[in-house]
Formats: sequence, C-alpha cells, structure tokens
Amino acid sequence: DTPKPLAGKRAIVTSGPTHEPIDPVRYIANRSSGKQGHAIAASLARLGAEVTLVSGPVTIPDPAGVTVIRVESAADMLEAVTSALPADIAVFVAAVADWRVAAASGEKIKKQPGEGPAPLELTENPDILKTIGHHENRPKLVVGFAAETSDVISSAQAKLARKGADFIVANDVSPATGIMGGDRNRVRIVSSDGVEDWPDLSKAEVADRLAARIAEAF
Ligand code: C5P
Repeated sequence: DTPKPLAGKRAIVTSGPTHEPIDPVRYIANRSSGKQGHAIAASLARLGAEVTLVSGPVTIPDPAGVTVIRVESAADMLEAVTSALPADIAVFVAAVADWRVAAASGEKIKKQPGEGPAPLELTENPDILKTIGHHENRPKLVVGFAAETSDVISSAQAKLARKGADFIVANDVSPATGIMGGDRNRVRIVSSDGVEDWPDLSKAEVADRLAARIAEAF
C-alpha cells in the first residue's frame, strides 16, 4: 500500500482550456490538452486527497479516483471552483482564456457576402487563480502555472505575489519544446524560497513530484 499523506485533505484542480462563445457555433479558446492538470489531479488522489477536478473541454479520459466537474467558459469555471470551497489545496493548471466576447450572440452570426467580418468586442475574464489566491476562504496551499514563451522566470515571480500563490510552476511552451499537447514537461518551481529546476520528465512524473511537494507542505 502506498502511504496516504494527503488523507483527509480536500484539493481542487483546474485543467484544460476554456471555451468562450462567440455565437452558438463558434468560440475562442486556448491550446490545452488537459494532460498535465488531469495527471496532477490523479497524483493528488493517489496520495489520499479528496480531489475535485474542474475541467474545461478536453478529449482525454477522466482520471481515476477524482470528482470531475465539466465546464465550458471561464465564468463557469470560476463558479465551479468557488462552489468546491473550502479546500486545503488548489492547483490552477487550466489555460483559461483571458478574454471573452463582450456580448455573445444567441444566433449564429451570418457571413454577409461582400462585407468584411463582424467586429468582435472582447472583455476581460475573471482571473480564477487570483480570485482564489485572495479569497476569504483561501486554501492553505495555492499553486499556479505560468506557461510562457519568453521571460519565463521573471513572469512567474511577478505572478506569485500578484495572484496570491505559494508557488508557480513555470514552463516554456514555445512550439519548439513540444510541451503543448505532448507527454513531457520541463518545469521550474518558483516560490519565495527561490527557483527549483526540474529535469525533463513525463507529465505524470511532474504530477507525482508536485503532489509529493504539496504533501511536504502539510
Ligand atoms: O496570467 P496567466 O494566465 O499567465 O496565469 C497563469 C495562471 O493563472 C495559471 O495557473 C492559470 O490556470 C491561472 N489563470 C486563471 N484564470 C485566468 C487566467 C489564468 O486561473 N483567467
């Protein structure tokens, strides 16, 4: 039997992209397979945590041993996460769309022959990590991700304080790395203690290490 250092602890994990409707058939989204977030949910559950996984639209299977809540948009994701409080641990892995269409159309927007595309007015989405990081019911341990293509460490350090996270898992998702959609990840753990460089690992290994690191904090 594996030891269960997180027995009795509740964890919330967000994973996958969000879809922000333009009209009933079109949406804006980020690229995200959900592989890393789902793996983290599974790893926390293996260590005994009671895990709620709030997932945007993904095509991968539900991980074993976790409660899955499926959502589409950032607004829905925030509501699902808030409803899952209180929790001891929250890990925000989802690639949330930063913007949504200010007034999504209830009807499919028609192409008008001879006219250009309809302009889309965007408005900012809620920042779920930042909201929970500063929430009156803030979980004891809040972990965020920072996927960047440049200035990876400085961006992660800025996010720590701004978002109220205990640590930020930073990775370089430049297309050449193959991280997005792939099975491997190379991350750095950025906290007030400094920067920890992890080797190139499978997403499952990153998840296990992160779950172990979280268990150490309790
Ligand atoms: O600011 P940025 O999007 O780079 O921050 C990434 C981190 O913040 C990730 O942990 C992501 O899940 C979280 N996030 C969020 N809600 C948003 C935007 C990002 O929870 N609207």
